[in-house]
Amino acid sequence: MISERFDPGERIVLAQESCLKFLEGIPDSTFQLIVTSPPYNLGKEYEKRLKLEHYLGEEKAVIRECVRTLKPGGNICWQIGNYVEDGSIVPLDAALFPVFSGLGLKMRNRIIWHFEHGLHCSRRFSGRYETICWFTKGDDYVFHLDPVRVPQKYPGKRYFKGPKAGQHSCNPLGKNPGDPR
Ligand SMILES: C[S@@+](CC[C@H](N)C(=O)[O-])C[C@H]1O[C@@H](n2cnc3c(N)ncnc32)[C@H](O)[C@@H]1O
Repeated sequence: MISERFDPGERIVLAQESCLKFLEGIPDSTFQLIVTSPPYNLGKEYEKRLKLEHYLGEEKAVIRECVRTLKPGGNICWQIGNYVEDGSIVPLDAALFPVFSGLGLKMRNRIIWHFEHGLHCSRRFSGRYETICWFTKGDDYVFHLDPVRVPQKYPGKRYFKGPKAGQHSCNPLGKNPGDPR
C-alpha cells in the first residue's frame, strides 16, 4: 500500500508536493535516514534559476527541516554537484557545509561519484564527478560496513613471518570500499 499522506503507521508514502511543505507536517525525530538529490539551480525543467543567495536560502530552509525531522543517530546523504554561471563553478556541497555543521551535524564522508557522461567543456576540464555528503546527527550513528566490503587487492593474503605468520593480514570479509564510488 502506498499512501499520499504521512502517517507514522504507513510503510510507504509518496507525496507529490513541495518537500518543504511536506517536511513541515512531520513530527520531530521521525526519520532514521534522509537521502536526496535536490536541484542544483541550473534552470532545469523542474526548477527556476534563482540568484545564488536566494537558492542557498531555500536549501537552508529544507535542510533545517530535515535535521529537525531526523532521529538522534540518524543519517543524511545529500547528493549535489556544481552550480555553474558563465563558466565559473560554485561547489554546492562546500557552500552548504556550514549549514549542516551549523545545525550540529557531523560529516562522515564526502563520497565522490565519478561518471563519464555529460557536457564537454572547452575552457576548463569537463565536470565528471558529483559528491554525496554524508552527515550524522550525533556520534552514535548506524553504519554497517560488512555488507558493503569489496574484495581485497590480494584476497586471502597472510603474514608470512613474525608472530602472526599464517594469519590473514587483512579482513577476510573484504576491504572497506573507500569514499570514491
Ligand atoms: C537533481 S533532480 C534529482 C534527480 C533524481 N535524483 C534522479 O536521479 O532522477 C531534483 C529533483 O527534485 C525535485 N524537486 C525540485 N524542487 C522540489 C521541491 N521543492 N520539493 C520536492 N521536490 C523537488 C525535482 O522534480 C527533481 O526530480
